[in-house]
Amino acid sequence: MKLLQKKKSPPTAAGHGQPETRRAFLQKLGLGSMLAGLAGFGWQSFRALIPNVLYEPPQKLKIGLPAQLAEGVTFFEDERLYVFKEGRTFYAISAACTHLGCTVKYTRLNQPKQVEIGGEKKTVPFEFHCPCHGSKFYAEGTNYAGPAPRPLQWYKLEVSPDDGQLVVDMGSEVGQNFRLTV
Ligand code: FES
Repeated sequence: MKLLQKKKSPPTAAGHGQPETRRAFLQKLGLGSMLAGLAGFGWQSFRALIPNVLYEPPQKLKIGLPAQLAEGVTFFEDERLYVFKEGRTFYAISAACTHLGCTVKYTRLNQPKQVEIGGEKKTVPFEFHCPCHGSKFYAEGTNYAGPAPRPLQWYKLEVSPDDGQLVVDMGSEVGQNFRLTV
């Protein structure tokens, strides 16, 4: 007697497809993690090549021999700096407004002005005016109008021992009575 054997039906797509999908998902997940890891490693390696140093402009500026500097005021645009020469005496005032840092303009007055600064009466022939929000500073940098909260900075001047040039040290702030006489 012939036994009827029940034919085994082939696996259906539904029955076999589910593990396939899970496997594919896990493979993709693994690949994604690997790529993320590689990207992280790559960034770390790249970052290690960049020196962790902040580059700032040099703080000391050589401005030439004292005799070569013009009498009166000289403006150094890149450094935003006014250097004054009165005979053999020199001093330097920053042109950076103490409000938000705009460059203040040296402004010659039509008539010298009588002012009282720190209890002392002075005659000033010029001022500094800020074009941004109207702050005004007396000749020696004291703020007297507008939103600027402080006087302009004064910088130390010295003579270079190497070549006799004047050096403005923009890293050293000095008081308004500072003068360098050479
Ligand atoms: S930046 Fe000079 S008054 Fe504002």
